[in-house]
Amino acid sequence: MNVIVVAAECAPWSKTGGLGDVVGALPKALARRGHRVMVVAPRYGNYAEAQEVGVRKRYKVYGQDILKRMVLFCKAAVEVCWHVPCGGVCYGDGNLVFIANDWHTALLPVYLKAYYRDHGLMIYARSILVIHNIAHQGRGPVDDFFYVDLPGNYMDFFKLHDPIGGDHFNIFAAGLKTADRVVTVSHGYAWELKTPEGGWGLHGIINEIDWKFQGIVNGIDTKGWNPKFDVHLKSDGYTNYSLESLQTGKARCKAALQRELGLPVRDNIPVLAFIGRLDHQKGVDLIAEAMHWIAGQDVQLVLLGTGRPDLEDMLRNFERQHYDKVRGWVGFSVKMAHRITAGADVLLMPSRFEPCGLNQLYAMMYGTVPVVHAVGGLRDTVHQFDPYAETGLGWAFERAEANRLIDALGNCLKTYRNYKSSWEGLQKRGMMQDLSWDNAAYRYEEILVAAKHQW
Ligand code: GLC
Repeated sequence: MNVIVVAAECAPWSKTGGLGDVVGALPKALARRGHRVMVVAPRYGNYAEAQEVGVRKRYKVYGQDILKRMVLFCKAAVEVCWHVPCGGVCYGDGNLVFIANDWHTALLPVYLKAYYRDHGLMIYARSILVIHNIAHQGRGPVDDFFYVDLPGNYMDFFKLHDPIGGDHFNIFAAGLKTADRVVTVSHGYAWELKTPEGGWGLHGIINEIDWKFQGIVNGIDTKGWNPKFDVHLKSDGYTNYSLESLQTGKARCKAALQRELGLPVRDNIPVLAFIGRLDHQKGVDLIAEAMHWIAGQDVQLVLLGTGRPDLEDMLRNFERQHYDKVRGWVGFSVKMAHRITAGADVLLMPSRFEPCGLNQLYAMMYGTVPVVHAVGGLRDTVHQFDPYAETGLGWAFERAEANRLIDALGNCLKTYRNYKSSWEGLQKRGMMQDLSWDNAAYRYEEILVAAKHQW
């Protein structure tokens, strides 16, 4: 099949978060399954601009400029199949499926319908819209309809009324209604999106389109994120390791991390880590609330991230106040993300909501045990440890509250300190999973085929 993946970011060229990773990896997995795949992404002048498009804030209303750019981008992406040869051939006919991602490209299914299919053109083409995060919807005033360049009767697809936005213009809503299929990035999040709490005003539409909607858990790039081959572990005292050399390899990485960050080098102390955007979604403030308890434990804590200035200051303060055990690295460093994942024993992910989450998957590949809030993709992927049956992959606590985090982390630390073989079991079960994109690509393929045969 011919597949065109369209998104606002694509790693390694542009990335502000997990969306970029997915768009960097899913096309390759589909190509491995024999499909002809092209990716269409904006060519940003610089990284700062990419961040502007990916800006995350509750019900962020785009700058006008962003709307116009996304209009142009989506129109171009629909046209691209006629003009850009991929593998020497243009895609303009035959089996063609567009995979659009998040609100930035949710206009694509609308344009495909309005400009082509309504006129009996490109009737063989299908569109799939993937929801990575419903919190960003492309909302604006109703008059913004003027800029999207569509026939008047299309207004109904965009117009939405809700208690927060009132009457407004909503790009995601139009994309959801017009796409042939809608996918989101985990089963847990698929369920949450149908609830008023999880759907952020779009739950009504999600329920209406249930017949064409489903969850597929993301995979990860198991080459780039593999402790056996990781290029970031090849210097500065770090080392590559695998299931066979797990204990010695991880101990060396932990010592190297402690040295690099200027923490006391001790092999028997649990190193906890947080890696992520510093915002409300990721729940770093729950770690702040739990800090009095964490500071009283014999642990080390490493936090890496950028985001809200007040939360960035908070990281710096943690480090200042607890210099013997805490490091708060404000910045975006791929190298440090890999090194922390390898050197830490425990990854904390207290996200308030998490459509899929990739860091917990990376952590498990590295024998780092996740402690997560049981929500969205975290609930799907981190099965609760059962000490009697010796099953499970980590700790998943219900409710995003600091005392729940403390309870879960307390149990985790007890296991780390007192039950070494259980701990090793947790690490090994995590590492032995097949988290590659191959499974997910197979599921996407089923949807491509189903969409194809829809009419
Ligand atoms: C978004 C979500 C994250 C997901 C990623 C890739 O960043 O917040 O949970 O893993 O997209 O789908």
